[in-house]
Formats: sequence, structure tokens, C-alpha cells
Amino acid sequence: MNDHSSDWWKSCVIYQVYPRSFYDSNGDGIGDLDGITQKLDHLIELGVNTLWVSPFFASPQVDFGYDISDFTSVAPEYGNLDSAKALIDAAHQRGLKVLFDLVLNHTSSQHPWFQDSLTGKSSEHADWYIWADGRGPAGRIPPNNWRSGLEVKSAWHYSKTRKQWYLGTFLPCQPDLNWRNEHVREAMFNAVRFWLDLGVDGFRLDMFGAIMKDPMLRSNPFHPYMEPSELMRLWRRDYTENTDDNFELARDLRSVLMRYEPERVLIGEVFGPPETLKRYVANGAGLHFTFLFGFLAFRFKAKFFSKLIASYEKNFPEPYLPTYVLENHDRARSFSRVGENIFKAKLLALLMLTLRGVPVIYQGQELGMPNTYIPLRKAKDPIAKEYFWWMPEFVSKRLPERINRDEVRTPMQWDSSVNAGFCPPKTTPWLPVNENYLSCNVEVQRSYEYSLFCWYKAVLAQRALRPSLTLGDLVMISGLPEQVIGYARTHGEDSCQVFLNFGDTDSYFDVTAPDKVILSSDPGNLLLDGRLKLAPYGAILLA
Ligand code: NOJ
Repeated sequence: MNDHSSDWWKSCVIYQVYPRSFYDSNGDGIGDLDGITQKLDHLIELGVNTLWVSPFFASPQVDFGYDISDFTSVAPEYGNLDSAKALIDAAHQRGLKVLFDLVLNHTSSQHPWFQDSLTGKSSEHADWYIWADGRGPAGRIPPNNWRSGLEVKSAWHYSKTRKQWYLGTFLPCQPDLNWRNEHVREAMFNAVRFWLDLGVDGFRLDMFGAIMKDPMLRSNPFHPYMEPSELMRLWRRDYTENTDDNFELARDLRSVLMRYEPERVLIGEVFGPPETLKRYVANGAGLHFTFLFGFLAFRFKAKFFSKLIASYEKNFPEPYLPTYVLENHDRARSFSRVGENIFKAKLLALLMLTLRGVPVIYQGQELGMPNTYIPLRKAKDPIAKEYFWWMPEFVSKRLPERINRDEVRTPMQWDSSVNAGFCPPKTTPWLPVNENYLSCNVEVQRSYEYSLFCWYKAVLAQRALRPSLTLGDLVMISGLPEQVIGYARTHGEDSCQVFLNFGDTDSYFDVTAPDKVILSSDPGNLLLDGRLKLAPYGAILLA
């Protein structure tokens, strides 16, 4: 049964579906909404309770859906409004909540609003985007130093027709909307209401931190630094990200949702230090959660994780909830980051699924789907195409992060048939299927009890069973060997402990209280008379 309680979101486990690559129900090589509906039982079997669907709205698909040309219709390759409604209904029937992806920062340059805005300063939508005159005698120098997502390039793009620059923070084909224009706010909030009326339970908010820019268009201060996401930045984002107005926008958006029952939720893609992100969720008035991306660029070291967990626990104590993400449609597959070592992958799964907060699993993560190497020259991803012109392949190939996002978006591997059951054998899938599909697929892993998939299922089953794992507090256990992380989760009478050995050697230590092994990732893990031995990369849940 669907959960009608107002705080259902506090115990969510989110599963991200990238529709284009999930399941192709009509044999055109592209995943679609009916395909997701047909595969919902996979989510149920896995044990998640919330589905997040990346964009499937009308779009020229330059950025595969993150460039929207009509916010309230569905791109034909994904289906139509009926299929969107059918997906929501089918998910609800199974007790799953559904989040759609909301791209508020920009539209596609093909959106009729932008096409009109381009025609001139007196057009109806002239002021719907962020336009500014350039600097220099001919106005051919961008208005300020704001950088695009690629950092090396300006975020401003010149229009010969308007003889002005428009802001496109991500790519030129994604012009930023001018949220200071009341008509824009109204139109976008109406789009939000449209999906809420259709029954969606909330939204993942794309690039939410970047929506409200400085109205005076002041240049950002020069300040080279390394982002936790491993990206080198040369300018701070004081005037383009997390501005005071942006926190206000979060609250305004929340008030749009507040008219709906049961509660609808917002999870924001925002970047910044935890103290800044906290402002988005403060006092229960803005977003429900923000993504915390620190785990994405992990180093497989106890210290790396314990530091981050401590920081998230400090900044997001009860009643706030941290979120945990190991991979997504933009970033490297975690299985590749751990050198395709299943014990390390099991350890990470136990970690992310037993911490206090909301885990977000990306499709295929539960199978250990790795990156699928695709050279830049073959890329469909517009970001990779940008890099292709100047980044040598031998460099891109060796980076831990994938520049070509196609590599993390290859089709979901369902079975051992040609095309991994993603699309019919005679169809060419939009991206190649990873050649490991014969062994790495749902069907094979379902029938092998030591598979990663079965491990995810087992951990999620414990999470569903034990209030301590969803609602309990978290206390780090001290006095453990340096390579081990341990924590206790307690809620009323229910308590359990998790121990994770990040080292490549056995670890031995004493444990107190729990005396029963609930889950163990390795037959070499042993609990005897209060003393625990963890095999290399061993992970264990005790109660
Ligand atoms: C972030 C999304 O995750 C990414 O896939 C997209 O390309 C950009 N935002 C632009 O919308």
C-alpha cells in the first residue's frame, strides 16, 4: 500500500532511473516510460521505495532531456502523458513514490520562449532569459567573467540578432531563464503544479543552486581551488550560486508543494560546503534534502569516509537527513572506482544503505555495472563533444572521472540475451551494451546468492525491517583499527552495529553488546566471544 504519512520521505531509499537506458518497450533502441512501468517489479525486488526518473520531457535531446522544449509534454521516444500517468499509477499501486526531474534553471534553445526571445528586445519573451550588453566598443566582450559548467569557457553567448549576450551556464543550447521575471516564475510554477496534479510525489531539482544570479551581474572573484568533486575551479561562484535569493526560491517552491497531500518532496542538486547546503533545508521551509556529493569522488580509505560522515552528521543532525550518492548519470560508476572488486562494492553498499539518511542508488549500481569505455570521438554526450577538440584520448582514458558521460549511461543489463534484454536482439541500442552483460545482469545475479544484487537486496531487506536503520541515531564507534569504520544505529529497543574493513589485510578488534551476525560480506569475517575478525574489505552487520 502506498504510504500516506506526511513524513514518508524520511525513510526513502531512492532509485534513479535514466529512462533512455533502462528498458526499451517498443524496440527502437531507446528506453521509454512504458519500459520503466514494465520493470517496476525490479525495484520492488531490490527493496527500494522511491523512484526518481531523469527527464523525459519534450526536448531536442542535445543534452538527452536536460534541454527541455516543453515542460508539460513528453518526448515522443519516451511515450506520452498517458504513459507518464500510467507509470505514476503503477508505481503507486506497488507502494513506490515517484520523483520527476525538474529543470528550472534553463530551457532548450529550441524552446518557443527562447526562439521568441531571440527575435528582439521587443518580443513577448524578450526578458524571459538573462540578456546583457557586452563590454568593449563593439560590445563583443562578454558582460562579465561568469564561467560555464566547463569552467574554461564563458557562460555568455552572443546573439547576432539581438546584438546582446545571453547566459547559458551549462551549454549554449541551454539558455538560463530569468527568474526575476514574474511571468517566468508563474509559467514554471504552473509546470510544477501540472506534474503534481498528475500525481507525482516530488522532484529532483537540476542545477538548483545556480538559478538566481546576481541582478547586478558582478564578476565572480578569481580564486583557484579544487572542488571535492575533483574539478578544478578558477573563480568562486559568489554571484552565480547559492545567492540569498536562491534560498528564498527554495522556500517559494516549497510553498507551491505545500498545497498537496500527502507531502511532496524536493531534493536539490546543489553544490557548496555543507554549511551552505544546510541553508536550503533549514527550518523545514525550503528543500527536503540536498544531494551530498562527497562520496562520488571517494578514495577507498576509512579516513576518507569517516571524515565525510562526521561532517555530514555534524551539519545535518536530526531532524535533518544527509543523502548518500556513490554514482549517477553524470559521474563514474563506483564499481569501476573500486577496480571491479566485489568485496569493496559490497562494503560500500552496506555503508551507504546503513548510514543515517537517504541513499540514492543509480540504475545498475546494484549489479556492479562498470563504466563502458567509449572514446570521445564517438560520444553522444554534448560535454564529451566539447572536450573532444582539445583533450587527447590517452588523457581522458586515464582520468578516474568519466568525461564522456555515455560511459555511465549504457543500457541496463537485464539478462544474457543479445543487447542484455534492454531492447530486441535485432535493434541497435542507442549506446552500446557493456560486453560483460553475460555475467553481469539481473537474471544471472538474481540466481546467485553471493552476487552484488543479492547483497543489495539483503541489506535493503534489513533496512526495511529494522527501525534503527531508518530512524535510528548514529554513533561512531571509537578505538577500532585505523582501517576500520564502525558505527551503531539505535532506535528505541532496536539497535545494530556496522563494521567495515577498508584495509587489504585482516582486522581484529573487540565488539560490545551485539552478538549476532545479521549480514556478512565474506565467509572470512568471524565473530567469536566478542572478538571480531574482518577479512580484507570485509563488511558486517551485527545486532
Ligand atoms: C545536471 C545534470 O545532472 C546533467 O546531466 C545535465 O547535463 C546538467 N545538469 C544540465 O542540465
